[in-house]
Amino acid sequence: MAANVEMEQLVALCKRRGFVFPASEIYGGINGFWDYGPLGIQLKNNIRDHWWKHMVECPPLGPDGHPLQMVGLDSSIIQNPKTWVASGHVGGFNDPMQTCRQCKKLFRADHVWDMVSDSPWYKSLSETFAEGSTNDAVGLNGEQLMRWAKDKKRGKKLAPGMAVVRNPEVTLSWIAEEIERNPERQYNVLEAVKYLATEQLAATGLVTPCPNCGGDLTEPRMFNLMFESYAGAVQDESSKVYLRPETAQGIFLNYKNIVDTMRVKLPFGIAQVGKAFRNEVTPRNFIFRSREFEQMEMEWFCAPDEARKWYEFWKEERMKWWMSMGISKDNLIFRDHEEDELAHYSKACVDVEYKYPFTSPAFGELEGIAHRGNFDLTQHQEHSKTKLEYFDQETNERFVPHVIEPASGLTRGVLVLLCEAYTPDDTRPSQVYMKFHPRFAPIKAGIFPLVNKEGMPEIAEKLYMEIREKFTCQFDVKQSIGKRYARMDEAGTPYCFTVDGETKENNTVTVRHRDTQAQERINIDQVEKFLADKIAQAE
Ligand code: GAP
Repeated sequence: MAANVEMEQLVALCKRRGFVFPASEIYGGINGFWDYGPLGIQLKNNIRDHWWKHMVECPPLGPDGHPLQMVGLDSSIIQNPKTWVASGHVGGFNDPMQTCRQCKKLFRADHVWDMVSDSPWYKSLSETFAEGSTNDAVGLNGEQLMRWAKDKKRGKKLAPGMAVVRNPEVTLSWIAEEIERNPERQYNVLEAVKYLATEQLAATGLVTPCPNCGGDLTEPRMFNLMFESYAGAVQDESSKVYLRPETAQGIFLNYKNIVDTMRVKLPFGIAQVGKAFRNEVTPRNFIFRSREFEQMEMEWFCAPDEARKWYEFWKEERMKWWMSMGISKDNLIFRDHEEDELAHYSKACVDVEYKYPFTSPAFGELEGIAHRGNFDLTQHQEHSKTKLEYFDQETNERFVPHVIEPASGLTRGVLVLLCEAYTPDDTRPSQVYMKFHPRFAPIKAGIFPLVNKEGMPEIAEKLYMEIREKFTCQFDVKQSIGKRYARMDEAGTPYCFTVDGETKENNTVTVRHRDTQAQERINIDQVEKFLADKIAQAE
């Protein structure tokens, strides 16, 4: 599914059915923070458990056909602040940021134009240009533009700071000159807005418009993304600490502990799932970019001359893993980073990207697989004065291991599964159902009595008590059976079992299949086996 999903509808379903709620909603929310509701946490845990199983408990077989060595870790969110100096985050974890001089909102400089095209004033302006135009390309029609700029309900209300609203005469004369210079040229709306905002800079001093109000933005300034706090009673520079912006550094800090205690030999990996915090300048696209999120990261330590081989190995394994979750092949791609895109620590990096509804037809990041060289261990060795070299008993050599890092977003994985599952269907009362792979569905089975009388609830509750030991399931007696099926369709529950009048006669229940809405009867004693088989068989 994915690319055709309207994000507003998906966000509404997530709220309606208890997947994701805006954090602090009763206080008006807080930008960049989300709460995972009863179904959201179950979905998130299912993804986390699948990762842990395939990364830590049953890691893949290596190129030699033997299982890889992997251990798990849960390190502290707050570490000694020297960690973040050594890792480069205090000096280098910055985004360029611009502030609007009119409305004082902050924006990431590299997101401004994307946000302009999503802004209400830009949409209104495009509609104005589109009136009477047959396609996307528009002429720069001065009269239309002036009407928009001066109309109280449009320009003045939507973007009082926009160049053309504040200074229509200068803009109009610029448009007249532009048309004279280039009478044949057609612009798409964004191009036209860029011209209005930037090309007339010399004449008017007007700059890139604020996506919110159209006002002037300041020059970009660097802004550190780490959240700061204080440890202890005294709040000064000496007690300043940071919330971790990635789980990875906790792994590097424990590299020596693991080597000393776990009898591991190179190559081996340390895996961790946990919260990370980034004071993102422009959190957006629902849970795609938030300020508090969860990562699933693994650091693979290996000999320097084997790093390339392992980089290629993990690249393939990680794509296979995402596909094992039922994500369509067409919605996933690899994207190699260009040299000038690489993070300060990285020798090579490839992203697994997904076709999100808001990036489509393009793709956006889901996971990065980075060749970090020996950057992190070398930095921590220098800053902590603790030896982090590995002694290879076979070759009698000492060296700082190189690292390959598959780093993925758990909460981004939740978004991908939500997008992928969303399936509009106007043949059913809910108009939509969530087609989760049964293994990841938050609820595997609904267990219902057809009516809340005639001994049916008692039989259904007994069945529920047996099944809940093995599978997450929901017992529900309220409302009509049609309404209960509709709720389960939106929750993405693959199977519903209904106890009805026939159950007492021949010990059978109805199974209703989510995807086809087909119904069949099976023996009540077979329900557990039915679920186990279906979940095991599902692709
Ligand atoms: N240790 C390397 C590292 O943290 P990253 O590419 O910055 O690399 C890894 O982050 C993954 O974490 C990303 O691919 C993405 O899935 C997720 N992620 C990063 N920033 C995020 C944010 N603000 N909100 C949600 N997920 C985020």
